[in-house]
Amino acid sequence: MHNAIVFVSIIPMKEVKIETTFEVYDAIEELAPSIQSLIKKAAEARKKAYAPYSEFLVGAALELENGEIISGNNQENASYPSGICAERTAVYYAGAEFPNQKILRMAIVAGSTLNPTTKPIPPCGACRQALSEYEVKQKSPMELYFMGTSGQVAVSKSVENILPWIFDKTVL
Ligand code: THU
Repeated sequence: MHNAIVFVSIIPMKEVKIETTFEVYDAIEELAPSIQSLIKKAAEARKKAYAPYSEFLVGAALELENGEIISGNNQENASYPSGICAERTAVYYAGAEFPNQKILRMAIVAGSTLNPTTKPIPPCGACRQALSEYEVKQKSPMELYFMGTSGQVAVSKSVENILPWIFDKTVL
């Protein structure tokens, strides 16, 4: 015969719920002209992406507090993990060249040349983590506008909104 010890907790566990809200626009024309122009810069950057392996082209454009626009695109590599996403190309350049300028917003245009989509394509997890570093650093939200090759645009008011409960410097 086996003896079993069963622990029954009388303290109820706490459930933590995190909610996220987005705005989704049907077309770029529904946004302010300055935002449209940022998205167009991201679309231009996308056309210059170096993505011969995935054929998935991504362009990003970010606007700094001083009005400067920095763009970037994905840069792939024959050694696949050595490549880097568009968002990180742009944000690291901004961090390198303009370390004291806040990033107000970033537009991202993404899509495969083989399978174009009109649905918004959100940034990958690694890019969310990288972007959040700068949002935490600058202590103010970075708006994100993301879309496929055409059609709908999704808007997130901050990076934290799409990466809540972040691992950041406050936990180190
Ligand atoms: N990619 C980006 O540039 N940004 C993202 O947020 C997701 C993925 C790139 C990486 C790779 O070159 C290609 O898209 C396919 O994953």
